[in-house]
Amino acid sequence: FRRRIKPWEFEIFFDPRQLRKETCLLYEIKWGTSHKVWRNSGQNTTKHVEVNFIEKFTSERKLCPSISCSITWFLSWSPCWECSKAIREFLRQHPNVTLVIYVARLFHHMDQRNRQGLKDLILSGITVQIMRVSEYHHCWRNFVSYSPGEETYWPRYPPLWMMMYALELHCIILSLPPCLKISRRCQHQLTLFSLTPQKCHYQMIPPYILLATGLIEPPMTWR
Ligand SMILES: *[C@@H]1O[C@H](CO)[C@@H](O)[C@H](O)[C@H]1NC(C)=O
Ligand SMILES: *[C@@H]1O[C@H](CO)[C@@H](O)[C@H](O)[C@H]1NC(C)=O
Ligand SMILES: [Zn+2]
Repeated sequence: FRRRIKPWEFEIFFDPRQLRKETCLLYEIKWGTSHKVWRNSGQNTTKHVEVNFIEKFTSERKLCPSISCSITWFLSWSPCWECSKAIREFLRQHPNVTLVIYVARLFHHMDQRNRQGLKDLILSGITVQIMRVSEYHHCWRNFVSYSPGEETYWPRYPPLWMMMYALELHCIILSLPPCLKISRRCQHQLTLFSLTPQKCHYQMIPPYILLATGLIEPPMTWR
């Protein structure tokens, strides 16, 4: 059951700067009050990873429907709108299951349906967050087949990317227009990330996020 992924797989799948097409899911399941954690990983097949998980879980869950269960996902891409719908339906049918979702990147975040899908997930009580340094470290230690002595190594991506995605997730939650723009220069295989804030972003986004992305300057302190 416990299969670890290769270090290079983790590094390329979860790099917030690379827009790899496939999706990787690392997941943890805890049953009842037990402290034992079940871990496994999956990649998309012809179906999205979220749907594969739900189908697998539902077929195995029949054995013990009344035991509460908490699930944590680490997804390289956030759920698309169709998966968001499937997840909400899944949780509606399994009221004793709680789900926390960490994502490395936001999937086609300019698409209004995907934005609404994520917002609906959050409004229905599911935690959705951008992976931070602590989650990368956690995944490295628990899901990656690192070599002996490498347990304190993990890919340290520039925090700016996590902050830009966190900013955009705030825009989604607050129903603001997109602030993060991602464009591709095909002939140079270059991906450009830029922030295009409007007045509403400055008004509504929490200052600590604006500060972390460099959109506002720290206040000057005079002694
Ligand atoms: C996973 O999704 C990507 C992007 O849609 C696709 O190119 C790839 O073939 C899929 N993987 C499998 C095993 O079908
Ligand atoms: C949820 O858990 C409670 C307490 O363990 C149990 O009584 C109830 O039947 C469960 N609900 C479902 C739908 O399994
Ligand atoms: Zn999907």
